[in-house]
Formats: sequence, C-alpha cells, structure tokens
Amino acid sequence: MAYLPAELIKKKRESGELSEAEISFFINGYTRGDIPDYQMSALLMAIYFRGMSEAETLALTKCMLFSGKTVDFSSVPGFKVDKHSTGGVGDKTSLILGPIVAACGIAVPMISGRGLGHTGGTLDKLESIPGFNIHFSLEKFVQAIRDHKICFIGQTPEICPADRKIYALRDVTATVESLPLICASILSKKLAEGIDGLVLDVKFGSGAFMKTPEDAEKLARLLMDVARRYGKNVSALLTNMNQPLGRYAGNSLEVAECVDLLQNKRHPMTEDTRELSLQLSAQMLWLSGAAPSLEGAYSKCEESIRSGQAFKKFLELCRLHGGDLSGLPVPRKNLTVTADQDGFIQSFDTEGIGYAGIQLKAGRARTEDKIDPVSGIEFHKKVGDAVKKGETIFTLHGNDESLFAEAAKRLSTCVTYSLQKISAPVLIIKSLS
Ligand code: URA
Repeated sequence: MAYLPAELIKKKRESGELSEAEISFFINGYTRGDIPDYQMSALLMAIYFRGMSEAETLALTKCMLFSGKTVDFSSVPGFKVDKHSTGGVGDKTSLILGPIVAACGIAVPMISGRGLGHTGGTLDKLESIPGFNIHFSLEKFVQAIRDHKICFIGQTPEICPADRKIYALRDVTATVESLPLICASILSKKLAEGIDGLVLDVKFGSGAFMKTPEDAEKLARLLMDVARRYGKNVSALLTNMNQPLGRYAGNSLEVAECVDLLQNKRHPMTEDTRELSLQLSAQMLWLSGAAPSLEGAYSKCEESIRSGQAFKKFLELCRLHGGDLSGLPVPRKNLTVTADQDGFIQSFDTEGIGYAGIQLKAGRARTEDKIDPVSGIEFHKKVGDAVKKGETIFTLHGNDESLFAEAAKRLSTCVTYSLQKISAPVLIIKSLS
C-alpha cells in the first residue's frame, strides 16, 4: 500500500504507533531513493523524541535486516558467535577475543565497522597492519570461516543498505542517540551475519554513547529481547567507559597492545583490556556451549593465551588477510602532557580524549578524511591513581608534530584531580543473560 511520507511523519510526531507496513514503506522507499533525505530526517527526529514501541522496533529491525543480503553459513558446521561493542576509546577487544575464541574451536565471523564519532573502529585498527585487506566477498568470508574459524570484513554494499544510508543521515542530523534506532542499526547488521550467538559489550560513561548505566542497561535489554526474537543466544556485559580502555588509543598503537596481550605480556595499564577481553571471550565460549560454566570458559580462554594458541590464530588471521605484522608502523615523534598538580586522578573526559585522537588524525572528523595509522595517545594513569605535579598523564604519538599542540591543549582539559583518595572504578558492573 502507498502512503504519503508526510502523514507517517505526522503520525509519529503525534506519538502514534507505525505499523510494520508503514515502516517498511518508509524504509524501503528511502533506501531506493524514492523518499528524500529531508523526509527521512524528519521521521528520524520524530522517532528520536517519541520513541518506538517494541513492535515498531522489531519491525524496523526486520525491515533494515532484509533491505540486503544475509550471510548463509548453513554449509559451515558448528556454532558461530560474534561480539558487538557499542563503542569506546581504546576499545580494542575484538582483536584479542576473536583469536582467543577461534583458537578454542568456535567460529567468529565478524563484520566490523570503522571509527564513529569519537570512538575507534576495528577495521581502522586492522588496516594499520600493512597489506591487511578487509574487502572480502561474502562467498570468500564464508570460505574463510570454514577454513580458519575467523575472518574480519567491512560491511559490504549488500549487507543492510538501509542502515548504511540511514546511519550516515543520523550522524549529521543529531539522531544517533535513540534506543530503537541504535537497536535496529546494530542488530540488523549482526543478524545479517548469520551468527548463532552474540555477546554485547554495552558501554556507559563519558566515552560512551550511553552516558549512564541505566540507559546502557535499557539498551542492553532491548538488544537482547530483539535478538532473542530471532532465535539468537545472547548475553551482555555493562562496562565502564569513564576512562579509556588500556594503554593506547590509536590504530597501530592499539594493534601493538593487542599483540603484547596475545603474547601474554602484561603491563599495569593493559590489565583492563586483558580482563574485559577474557570476560567477553568467556561469554562467547559459554554461549556456544564449548564450556560447562562461565568459570570453565574463562580458564579455557586464559589457557589459549598462555599456550600461544591465540597468538598463533592472530598470525593466521593476518596471513589470511594479507597483513604483514612485522611491518606494523611505529610513530617517530612524541610529546608528553603532564599533571599540573599533586593528587589523585578523579575523572577523565573520555569523549574529549577521543576528539583529541581525531585532532591527531587517529580518527576521522569527516567520513572522507584519511586517518594516520601510527598516531594516537598513550595513557599513563587510571582513575584513582596518585599523581605528582609534572608526572606524565598522556603521551601523544605520531609522525606529524604540527598536530600535537592543539591535541595536547585539549588533553590537558580532559583530566580532573582530587586531593582525596579516589577508589578505582569497577570495569564490568553487570552481566545480563
Ligand atoms: N553502532 C551502530 O552500528 N549503530 C548505532 O546506531 C550506534 C552504534
């Protein structure tokens, strides 16, 4: 049935509930190019303010999912599991947990994204490895999962074209932070991947899209409900993004951090990356039924690092994608940002740190920008750590020193100090299953 776009926009604006047929008319019309950006923008803003019922969210997800192809893994035996993070600064766990889980014998097909806003993206990190190619056809992707149990590709034009178009529009119309829109966007892509199980890392805090644990939990529950309607095994961790994760944010720097962790090298600043990667891997193994308990799954994951199997899998992944890890670029220049008083680290403006990364060209200010794979930020302190005036808090790394001054100025405003001792924040505040 044909509708008038304006009548559907008005219905949503007045808090009406759109039917599946109305949603599909709008989304398909927009994806084909029959409905213009200005009408889609108006509908998105109405959804942003009025929300969507569960039935509408389900219909939106379904429509976006079937706007393109879905991957058919019926020829590949065994459970396939993926992880999705809602995004953060220094969040590099996919590069660690993928090899861990695949080394434990469970397939990990990952269709990953690029950096978004102030948050980093898995594809950008992987592409900092010289030669690493993420442009596989869906047929090659399936073959790689059959042969290697792990493969990372980018969203191809056939996967969720509706999301590609709508996401780009949301990014420039201030309509990203809407629970039903986020849910449909994330799940349409993940469901198209042909997976059996999904672990969600839903982040809250100053570096996350959801600023409070309450909003993160609402999003996690919505994502879990919708994923279950599609028969997926799903669990979620609510994790703290009030400070950057790990030691580095920046593409080749983060790959180097992952390589160290996969080689079982420990560093005080990377303990959070290690722990979150292991907890998420354990969830993935447990969902897949490869371990009788979560504790058993965690031990298996730790063992796959200790035995070298996870790192071996990472090297296999690099070979599969044509990447030469030995050529990982290293930055030549650096500049430190130091504490301007004695005390304890009270908080970080993690989103601001992400934007400083963009100023260094570790991320993009506009979609068409080229990133510099070697640039980024090293973190020397976590919330709760004691500091002395003049001690290094951040080191900027890169090859283009002309970018350092502005980023350093911003970084110096991204940290607050306390004279009282502050306790270290909890990394994983809740596990939902
Ligand atoms: N990640 C997505 O893929 N979509 C959103 O809407 C938000 C985060």
